[in-house]
Amino acid sequence: MAGFTPVDVFDLVIFGGAGDLALRKLLPALYHRDGDCQLPDGCRIISLGRRDIAADAFQGMVREALKSNLDADEYTEDAWACYSKRLQYISTNALEPSNWQGLTAALQGHEDRIRVFYLATAPGLFGAIATGLSENGLINDNVRIVLEKPVGHDHASALEINDRVGECFSENSIFRIDHYLGKETVQNLLALRFANSLFEPLWNRGNIDHVQITVAEDLGVGGRSEFYDQVGALRDMVQNHMMQLLCLTAMEPPSSRDHNAVRDEKMKVLRALKPIGAAEVKRNSVRGQYQAGAIDGQAVDGYLDELGGKESLNETFVALKLEIDNWRWSNVPFYLRTGKRLKQKYSEIVIQFQRVPHSIFPELIDTGSAANRLSIRLQPDEGVKLSLMSKDPGPGGFELRPVSLDLSFEDTFGARYPDAYERLLVEVIRGDPALFMRRDEVEFAWGWIDGIIAGWQQAQQPVEGYVAGTWGPTASSLLLDRDGRSWFPS
Ligand code: BG6
Repeated sequence: MAGFTPVDVFDLVIFGGAGDLALRKLLPALYHRDGDCQLPDGCRIISLGRRDIAADAFQGMVREALKSNLDADEYTEDAWACYSKRLQYISTNALEPSNWQGLTAALQGHEDRIRVFYLATAPGLFGAIATGLSENGLINDNVRIVLEKPVGHDHASALEINDRVGECFSENSIFRIDHYLGKETVQNLLALRFANSLFEPLWNRGNIDHVQITVAEDLGVGGRSEFYDQVGALRDMVQNHMMQLLCLTAMEPPSSRDHNAVRDEKMKVLRALKPIGAAEVKRNSVRGQYQAGAIDGQAVDGYLDELGGKESLNETFVALKLEIDNWRWSNVPFYLRTGKRLKQKYSEIVIQFQRVPHSIFPELIDTGSAANRLSIRLQPDEGVKLSLMSKDPGPGGFELRPVSLDLSFEDTFGARYPDAYERLLVEVIRGDPALFMRRDEVEFAWGWIDGIIAGWQQAQQPVEGYVAGTWGPTASSLLLDRDGRSWFPS
């Protein structure tokens, strides 16, 4: 495990500081960083929320949240005693100009430290909060603002948010979060591709048959059903997480790890994506919605039941076939799928290499296993697996069998995998924007997604039902079947 270098002293202000993200992710992430002595004395975490919550009650809420979100052995009373001293809650309605005094007073006299404003609120509030921070004189040279995803709900709203926030903050101080970029395994994709000479020469249309990216969840929409019904899987997962995975898989080698060098390469991939509009959606996209079923033997409700019986054509599953119009990837399809209430929580990038050009083993000719496959598992069981063909040992005939070189990160490094937010929060405090989305990436990705949504509307793309606990609608399997391929796993 890489060592922990303490960060500089900071004040971190969380708007939406008593909300779900703060309690489930941000405050536990900072508890871990504190436990590893990465937060120096004097660092403060100031949660803002509209509700009136007394100091004791807030501490109680955070303590309960830590206990339910950390493993049993990760919570200790000693660590809590230390961490809880850093926490404050200020009741504030950020849309009310007269309500900012509490925060202003709390920050006064602490101008010399790093100041982070984390906006864990609906994106519709980002502009107003940025303006409020500016009007109250809270922006200084040590400031950073963090925008939680989603930045808007389409290209126009993303542009408006970026413009408004950009009037108050310089681009270098704006950190747009996509928590997938903070996942160790996503980081490791860069190491795998660019710290090994083995793969890069093969990473192109000459050797790769196709690429698959799956981000599957077994959970349903649960308590977020109202929000999710306005969003759907395409906006919730594809516009951000899946696009980022696609970019890191497909981009050219950047000249350095400098934030702009990497982001420039990602932008080139986005620009080279073939649009999927009304003429293509039927052939290249699938929308699905889960119905009642069972996961791990437990009966679960369908999406409409979770919505309380309301009618909805919102998708909880999406599969796409993408093409990247450049020399490296010409004619190499990228298949993406993501959904809720699928068979299991499972995220993987699969690079399927081509078959051997000529086989001296006739029995291999018609089996998909004749080709090599590199699987980069993001979760669970993080690791890398390379499938190879091998001779089945023994005298007699010459039998072949697919085998795997299987690298499990847990077995190899034997360390706890930090949550993505732990790493991202530290990077924000350090002021390094490499793991965050630049304005143009977010806007371009939205423009591309808007094209699909408009295409679905124009072509009246149906929403296919799928039984919870499966890998999605039949149409998703057919998307690959048509090309003589199949999903891993299927
Ligand atoms: C979020 C989405 O960005 O990512 C959620 O809004 C989704 O709907 C979550 O469940 C998945 O993240 P992870 O890290 O659990 O794969």
